[in-house]
Amino acid sequence: MPYRSTKYLTASQADILKAADLLDAGELVSFPTETVYGLGADARNSAAVAQVFAAKGRPQFNPLIVHVSSANVAASYVQWPNTAELLADAFWPGPMTLVLPLKPGHGLSPLVTSGLPTLAIRVPAHPTAQALLAAFGGPVAAPSANPSGRISPTTAAHVRAGLAGRISAIVDDGPCNVGVESTIVDLQAAPTLLREGGVTREEIEAVLGCSMKEPADSGVLTAPGQMLSHYAPNASVRLNATEARRGEVLLGFGDVQGNLNLSPSGDLAQAAARLFGYLHQMDATEQLIAVAPIPNVGLGRAINDRLKRAAAPR
Ligand code: TXA
Ligand code: MG
Repeated sequence: MPYRSTKYLTASQADILKAADLLDAGELVSFPTETVYGLGADARNSAAVAQVFAAKGRPQFNPLIVHVSSANVAASYVQWPNTAELLADAFWPGPMTLVLPLKPGHGLSPLVTSGLPTLAIRVPAHPTAQALLAAFGGPVAAPSANPSGRISPTTAAHVRAGLAGRISAIVDDGPCNVGVESTIVDLQAAPTLLREGGVTREEIEAVLGCSMKEPADSGVLTAPGQMLSHYAPNASVRLNATEARRGEVLLGFGDVQGNLNLSPSGDLAQAAARLFGYLHQMDATEQLIAVAPIPNVGLGRAINDRLKRAAAPR
């Protein structure tokens, strides 16, 4: 794709207005959310959405999440069962995405959904994401702002390293505090967990009052972005390591100290917030990356999901 000079913007209201004008003009703007930095485009503008795929080098069949300012706006795009109301009430604004059937006359580009009859939609909690949605006044399609298949960005510097020269602007508002992407729940039929993420399975099931299905038991197409090799650093990754072998750096957790430690006290929220940043740092050492075991509960499930993909053969 042609080179574009990338502007660096702050979270000031004047800069948010500039970012909104760029979106309005069909340009790509990266902005912070509480999960990871998103690569935003006007979800109604097919030319803009097509550039998202080009900038990321993303396979075209992979649909995007649309970001809106409130549950009311979300309910204007998709059918809205009781389960959606319950989950939106409990977790929006926040790191949860709902997949629901699109309503007719939605006006979104078919590239956003890759032609599927459903839409993945979420209301982000980050104040700067909310300010941008308010200033822009429309739906923003935004995948994570990384080249396809690479580690997701949790700082503006990560976005710059992956996408500078390919997008019009980056709004820098510091590191993302959740650090793993949103949890994706398909509500077309019995609630199905398509992707582990920032809201835990346990939290969602407590609100629903039932357990969620796995994509395999419901026959739902797995979230297309759920390819096995994903979130991959350049170096290979070895999981469940308790010590570094020769030529490895060790990413620790709890008592497994490591060169960097995701959370010496064993706090999974702290570990999630640090995960991608530490992987970016360790990747820069050009050594193999060994990772300590992470308990597979709560946010640990999202962390292990990302680590499994980072370690998958490519
Ligand atoms: O936290 C997040 O969700 C971040 C921030 C920027 O909001 N966004 C994000 O987007 O992770 P992305 O594009 O990297 O992941 C979107 C996921 C993909 O796995 C995609 O296949 C799935 O959402 N998805 C999108 N539309 C879908 C649909 N209609 N049905 C099933 N899965 C869908
Ligand atoms: Mg992504």
